Amino acid sequence: MKPKIFVDRSLPAYVEQFLSESCLIDKWEEQDTIPRDELHRRLADAQGYITAGRRIDEELLQAAPNLKVVSTISVGYNHFDIEAMKRYGVIGTHTPSVLDETVADLVFSLMLGVSRRVAELDRYVRDGNWKRGDGANLFGMDVHHATLGIIGMGRIGEAVARRARFGFEMEVQYYNRSRKPEAEAKYDAVYRDLDLLLATSDFVVMLTPLSEQTKGMIGKREFALMKRDAFFINASRGATIDEAALIEALQNGGIRGAGLDVFEKEPVSTDNALLRLPNALLLPHIGSATTKTRNDMAMLAAQNLVNVLDGKQPPHLIAEFKDAAR
Ligand code: DGY
Repeated sequence: MKPKIFVDRSLPAYVEQFLSESCLIDKWEEQDTIPRDELHRRLADAQGYITAGRRIDEELLQAAPNLKVVSTISVGYNHFDIEAMKRYGVIGTHTPSVLDETVADLVFSLMLGVSRRVAELDRYVRDGNWKRGDGANLFGMDVHHATLGIIGMGRIGEAVARRARFGFEMEVQYYNRSRKPEAEAKYDAVYRDLDLLLATSDFVVMLTPLSEQTKGMIGKREFALMKRDAFFINASRGATIDEAALIEALQNGGIRGAGLDVFEKEPVSTDNALLRLPNALLLPHIGSATTKTRNDMAMLAAQNLVNVLDGKQPPHLIAEFKDAAR
């Protein structure tokens, strides 16, 4: 008999077709997120679960005694309680690689958008404020030939570095857990310790995954190290930075601007001070959100899940489960 799987969102028809060849699919297709109780009920006899961002914790695992694999349609997996999953014998998979170029494009949208004040000046025109005599009040800062500091030189970091070096002729520097000699050679990238990178970059781009080690990694002290005319870009996870410290730096001229795709609390609530700061460009976590890339991610998540249920190696097992999957 085919194993039952639960999918908590709509998938492209061809992905569903692929899954249905080896699984019985139960799915949630409503716009609103599935309520916790309903999710637990639907997972009671499921062997596989496809999600994107749903917290996988002890309580959920208890409610899903047959679960073998959770396949997230995302590269980030900070919503997985890895230790609890290991205890319950549940494997986690994710979808790196297919989104690298798309997220790198978005990083550049944020860099260009905030430094050239694209959204702010769009509002300026729409509000009827554009007038003869406008000049320096519309000026921004150049991206080309500026110094870029990448925090987290993984695959996406490299895609950003390539654009920076060869498209915008930027000076690339980076900070990472380990040195990346190949990336250094390819993009003339210079390794810096974090403090020096912060102090010398015109654009600081946060791309490191969220973990216990990276939580709150950029706070008051780190923003104070940045140049007053520098821009801070976050396309990793909101909790890698101290959002209150960022708001303070933006309000007090500690840095010039920020481009953010991720936030401590998503969706952002209307009382978040960021919403009232003209030097912050804000996006609703759309790093990988193009039709092609999201379809590719969904297909990869489906392949990951089917492989695990077939007893095969999935294309992208999360590193922490390597031993568990043997
Ligand atoms: C991911 O895949 O982790 C991205 O944040 C989703 O856009």
